[in-house]
Amino acid sequence: MSNTREIATQILTDIYLKFEFFETVILLNKNFSRLNTRDKAFVRYLVLNTLRRNGQVDKVINDFVKIPIRKKNFYILNLLRLSVCQILFLDIKEYSIVNTAVEISKHYKFDKFVNGLLRNICRNKETILQNLDLKTNIPSWIKDDIIKNLGKETLEKISKTIVSEPKLNIKIKINSLKKNNWEKVLNGKFICDDVLETQNDGLIEQKPFFNEGDWWIQNISSTLPVRFISKLFHDIDKSNVSILEVGAAPGGKTFQLIEENFNVKSLEISQRRIRRLNQNLKRLKFETKIICENFLNFKCFKLFDCVLIDAPCSASGLMQKKPEILIRDKEKNIKNLIDKQKKMLEKSKSILKIGGYIVYCVCSIHSSEGSFQIESFLKKNKNFEIVDVDNIVSNFGKYFKSGMLTITPGVFDLNAEADGFFISILKRIK
Ligand SMILES: C[S@@+](CC[C@H](N)C(=O)[O-])C[C@H]1O[C@@H](n2cnc3c(N)ncnc32)[C@H](O)[C@@H]1O
Repeated sequence: MSNTREIATQILTDIYLKFEFFETVILLNKNFSRLNTRDKAFVRYLVLNTLRRNGQVDKVINDFVKIPIRKKNFYILNLLRLSVCQILFLDIKEYSIVNTAVEISKHYKFDKFVNGLLRNICRNKETILQNLDLKTNIPSWIKDDIIKNLGKETLEKISKTIVSEPKLNIKIKINSLKKNNWEKVLNGKFICDDVLETQNDGLIEQKPFFNEGDWWIQNISSTLPVRFISKLFHDIDKSNVSILEVGAAPGGKTFQLIEENFNVKSLEISQRRIRRLNQNLKRLKFETKIICENFLNFKCFKLFDCVLIDAPCSASGLMQKKPEILIRDKEKNIKNLIDKQKKMLEKSKSILKIGGYIVYCVCSIHSSEGSFQIESFLKKNKNFEIVDVDNIVSNFGKYFKSGMLTITPGVFDLNAEADGFFISILKRIK
């Protein structure tokens, strides 16, 4: 199998069947691993864009196919999904899309059906496009929550943003900032003092000064928790401030804490992810104390000044980068995570000094993983109070609710693309 579209169809089929992330599926796909860099990028482009447009594409197929395509022809359905996305939304010649799809479907004796259907869609392209709604790409478990908690206007903005190719954010090491003209070297623009936005060409390790360890990949949203922590302790010698980062790999926030000179310990449950953390630390020439343990079993003799919980979550804030999230269903996805986040918050209070802070964050914009978690924690724990994030840094995002910050894709004050993210700070007062 050498055809890129055939490989893309197999990968899309696996993603739909297993609800795995693209990155996980390609690791197991031998045909993908044999492709050259350009073809790999093309497969990625096809699959991720089809997922970004999942609702619109399925609507068109359902409108044009009178009898539903049965499960045993799931591969053909995914071939159609990819083809319809290309015809309607990607800048690719129609004849090449239709001809290749017909060739592939010959093996399954579906060529006539595929040919007729795709040509019909090509003929009606203009009318189809006028009647499609971007919001159908977002599943209702995310959509309903956005409407209820962030409003319809935000939903419109998010829907528009997530169908575009995401940009790449590069965090430059503070000590390396003066070393180069980074905008020129990395072909991007600074969106704040140390984060640069550039196009994502997928060739991260080949970019200048990667091996020298002058920068790492980190979205501007996820740099905020450590910026907030720095403000909380701005008048104290930071090397005396003990911080436990919970869920530390692959390491973006640990690196920031190290370069700010905090006394940091990095706790992570996954050995596989710790290997990545260690590789990154080596490349960046940073050191930290790593604890490989389930946080819920963690014991310590000395209490911390701050616990940063970067909790596992549905990653609903990353819909643009990881559009696989858009086809997941809520029950499977979110229930266990909410339970785990709750337990992590509860555990943190037992290892925190009086006067210390819990900084809780998730790359989710779903209220059940963000503001609802904090509200329920505060109801039970009267010895904690919320620190108003707005008072610390006010120029980053728009959605402050009772001192908590939710950043959503498409809505960001810095005129930059930002991942969806939630941050809240709690202070132990007694
Ligand atoms: C959102 S990611 C962390 C990203 C990381 N802080 C960074 O900035 O690069 C959440 C991490 O929590 C880890 N994790 C999940 N459950 C955990 C637990 N019970 N104890 C410790 N770490 C856990 C996951 O393995 C995952 O690496």
